[in-house]
Amino acid sequence: MPLLAIETSCDDTCAAVLEGPEVLSNVVSSQGIHDRFGGVVPEVASRQHLGLVAPVVEDALARAGVTIGEIEQVAVTAGPGLIGALLVGLSAAKAIAAPGRLPLVPTDHLHGHVAANFLDPEPIAPPFLCLLASGGHTLLAGVRERSGFEVLGQTLDDAAGEAIDKGARLLGLGYPGGPALESLATKGDPGAFDFPVAMSRDPGLDFSFSGLKTSLVYRCRDLGESGVEAHRADLAAGFQAAIVDQLAAKLVRALDRESWPAVALGGGVAANGPLRRSVTAICEEREVRLKLVGLDLCTDNAAMIGSAARFTEPLRYPDYLEFNAFATGERR
Ligand code: KG4
Ligand code: ZN
Repeated sequence: MPLLAIETSCDDTCAAVLEGPEVLSNVVSSQGIHDRFGGVVPEVASRQHLGLVAPVVEDALARAGVTIGEIEQVAVTAGPGLIGALLVGLSAAKAIAAPGRLPLVPTDHLHGHVAANFLDPEPIAPPFLCLLASGGHTLLAGVRERSGFEVLGQTLDDAAGEAIDKGARLLGLGYPGGPALESLATKGDPGAFDFPVAMSRDPGLDFSFSGLKTSLVYRCRDLGESGVEAHRADLAAGFQAAIVDQLAAKLVRALDRESWPAVALGGGVAANGPLRRSVTAICEEREVRLKLVGLDLCTDNAAMIGSAARFTEPLRYPDYLEFNAFATGERR
């Protein structure tokens, strides 16, 4: 039963074709256009999705070797995300599903990041603890069933990816900053500058990243332009390490609180090498199974939306014609 999934919650126009847990194609067209603005401009993202969504869907079908007539279900991200961007994907999904009276599955984006772990190869089954860190969210999810998750702790201010992007921008790197910051950090000494690991004494499972960003602003101001230029790699390494250390510390705290047989990661920041290594060491020490999906399933993609849709109630035609997208909050 081939399923077509569409994801347009931020700046990536994504489409995928799945057959059960098997990904037949997973196409991501990233809008390089936002780099010049140093971040995503919502209206620009929506207009770009309008132009890209049809060719990206066609490409996903062609790569899967599946015709549109063979698709039996359409899944789409309903939220959370940029509302204008979501509406483009939702409208496209309705337009594809309605003529053939196909079921439509409105899917939660965060559920998608968790559900990337249910895809082939080597899918993981609940229960497990999932650290989800992206540009819009940072949370610890207790996953006890495939259809949803419980939020055990979350960021009180910026998301980890948001802090990374802001830090990268301060260091003169482009958007999105994660990959560029990671690569610059390999040339630096993480101990050269002292960055605070926020919430380390806080007994809860919440995160905070805004103070870290402020401390980088002050460091850069104190060093001056030439000082920043001379120490860019050290600043990148120290800043990245403080983010990774906080994520790892809260994961350890969650494992101390409750015994979980397995750990998984999700979201764009889960593509970060130092974070993957740190979590690997934690799980090895505790003899807990670790599931790490490939980098293409960490950052936004439609295969993860198709995966979540397999465990979400579909809507029948014509009920979904009225269905709306949501920018914030949860619908699970
Ligand atoms: O999950 P995602 O693609 O989109 C959202 O749902 O937000 O996450 C994007 C975020 C960006 O902030 C980006 O800088 C970050 O993930 N990111 C990384 C890496 N690759 C992407 N952060 C650290 N290291 C990376 N290698
Ligand atoms: Zn995401």
